Amino acid sequence: MHPKSVLFVCLGNICRSPSAEAVMTKLTKNQGLNIHFDSAGTANYHTNSPPDERAVAVGKSLDYDLSALRARQVRPDDFYEFDMIFAMDANNLANLQKIMPADATAQVAMFDELAVADPYYGDISDFQSMFAHIEKASQHWLTRWQQGATHD
Ligand code: 4NP
Repeated sequence: MHPKSVLFVCLGNICRSPSAEAVMTKLTKNQGLNIHFDSAGTANYHTNSPPDERAVAVGKSLDYDLSALRARQVRPDDFYEFDMIFAMDANNLANLQKIMPADATAQVAMFDELAVADPYYGDISDFQSMFAHIEKASQHWLTRWQQGATHD
């Protein structure tokens, strides 16, 4: 079984998590899977900002559309409204676990065992590597969900 809803979480919600949202939205649509995706940041520095222009540009070159996404901070309701919350790195995971309500129903996990590197202070090649990493991890989860495994 696949989750019905998945939230991707990074620090700023302008690089990694909106990119993961766009990749997973497209890949699942292509496969006829009906899953709701969203993304958020543990920080609030970029609330209401569009994704980083480098993420938008590299995403567009790979046929992923990030243009309509706007940053928001993680909120307590997310821990009940989403089936799964994926952290992009170990700091994001630790920060999520700090604010997670005791009776949260969402399952919180790393998106990939290997942290998706923060490209914010890098260059275009770091954004290209980020998309490649996200695509690989996305394929892993899609295969897992389609094999009927539980989503843990
Ligand atoms: P993200 O990248 O967490 O992948 O969105 C970052 C975006 C902004 C900052 C850090 C990381 N920042 O320090 O403003």
